[in-house]
Amino acid sequence: MYSQGQILVGKNESVSANIPLSLACRHGLITGATGTGKTVTLKVLAESFAAAGVPAFVVDVKGDLAGTVNPGSSDSVGSRVASLGLTDFVYTGFPVVFADPYGQHGHPVRTTVQSLGYRLLAKMLDLSEAQTSVLSLVYKIAANEHKKLNDLGDLESMLVFISQHRADYTAQYGNLAPQTLTTLQRQVLALHDELGDHFFGTPEFRISDLRALDADTGFGRLTILDAQKLFLSPTAYVALVLWFLNSLYDQLPEVGEPAKPKLVFFFDEAHLLFTHMPKTVIDHVIKIVKLIRSKGVGLYFISQSPADIPPAVLNQLGHKIQHALRAYTPAEQKAIAAAAAGLRPNPAFNTQQAIQDLATGEALVSFLDERGQPNIAQKVTILPPQSQMGPISDQRRAQIIAASPLFGLYETATNETSAQELNQAALDQLQEQKLAAAQAKQATADQKARAQAERAAQKARQANPVYKLGRKVVTKAVDKAINKTLNSLMKNLFK
Ligand SMILES: Nc1ncnc2c1ncn2[C@@H]1O[C@H](COP(=O)(O)OP(=O)(O)OP(=O)(O)O)[C@@H](O)[C@H]1O
Ligand SMILES: [Mg+2]
Repeated sequence: MYSQGQILVGKNESVSANIPLSLACRHGLITGATGTGKTVTLKVLAESFAAAGVPAFVVDVKGDLAGTVNPGSSDSVGSRVASLGLTDFVYTGFPVVFADPYGQHGHPVRTTVQSLGYRLLAKMLDLSEAQTSVLSLVYKIAANEHKKLNDLGDLESMLVFISQHRADYTAQYGNLAPQTLTTLQRQVLALHDELGDHFFGTPEFRISDLRALDADTGFGRLTILDAQKLFLSPTAYVALVLWFLNSLYDQLPEVGEPAKPKLVFFFDEAHLLFTHMPKTVIDHVIKIVKLIRSKGVGLYFISQSPADIPPAVLNQLGHKIQHALRAYTPAEQKAIAAAAAGLRPNPAFNTQQAIQDLATGEALVSFLDERGQPNIAQKVTILPPQSQMGPISDQRRAQIIAASPLFGLYETATNETSAQELNQAALDQLQEQKLAAAQAKQATADQKARAQAERAAQKARQANPVYKLGRKVVTKAVDKAINKTLNSLMKNLFK
């Protein structure tokens, strides 16, 4: 719950645990076993940011954050409100827009192959260095030829086109090994099969749409990315997240330590960003986490155990919320020890034991204070959310989507002239030129054959005895007639 520059996250009899809004860009971590309250905590934080006029982007893995659009009710959390003595607590819904790369549970989110960039795409395709450099040349050729790479079809067409004119391109751009081009074609086709015609294309999602305030309330708008289907393609999820973060990093000016964040991201199931990802992707995430803070962007990672997050990222997360962890196996005990080591100890309790004793909706929290120092860990009850917990009906979702200020901007995929059409046109033109040349050649050959045939026929006619006789008779008749005319002329002259 937000009030006067502070986000109240949890309370106990003697302590109120707040994240100062001015330090919210120092990033955070919410961890805990299944069902211990991570998603509700995320929700409480996102609501508070919205109320503070800070837009947030929330990854919704199970669809259970959608209820944020509806007011909560005392039936579900009234007792928690009362026990925490929250006198100014109000039940309210928040301004939400739903986004979904598949366009089923929200406005379609698309990026283009071009703006994702060859580096991120190479990561999605898990390419080697040599393959990545060929991919970079494909992008370069497309740019030089003013061919837009919007969707995967454009990239596929570019690869086919380059393969067909490989000799010319190799002369100009250096080696484009045929087997590398074939591998790229195969990989791109596989990705296309996985994603269908979603994710890549136009119109591209405007990053600025993530940073909007609600016109009516002045609250920060919450963009809820419905990731239920997207999570089946973890590389696409990671690519989308990195595209958002890269684009924000490029677009936002350096702000140092702002009074409040420009935007906050919540990544539920954050382990997906790090597990099974190539090292280059992980290094990229680490770099972004370090740098984006100064652009006024706060990142909050949600996962089961801090051990899911690489140490280089953990070191950057200032605000920690640790829900209960269970210690049935040695590996789990180790994870608890690691989680406890990440919290500044409180002499009042044993951190490792406290982590195991927490009830649902309780947590050990350690936030940075106004000087940027971590407070000692406190055992608190997390506030209840002000909005409805859990999912909403399909009907309500459809209603929100239709009434959203983004409605109509992205729903229909556009069909801009891009590489695919231009390559097809070039191939068609080539085909036409070839056809015209072949027709011209044929016409010349026909003419020649006709002339030859005529000459042969003439010869044959001349060689014919009837023709010869006829010609003789005609010649004689003509001679006779001329002689006759001449004779009568002479006669008349000398009369
Ligand atoms: N702060 C809270 N206020 C009220 N109820 C809560 C709170 N935290 C947790 N709960 C209750 O506990 C349930 C489980 O919480 P939540 O869904 O946040 O767990 P989770 O850790 O995200 O689980 P999972 O790992 O399965 O996603 C909630 O549906 C809610 O009923
Ligand atoms: Mg959850």
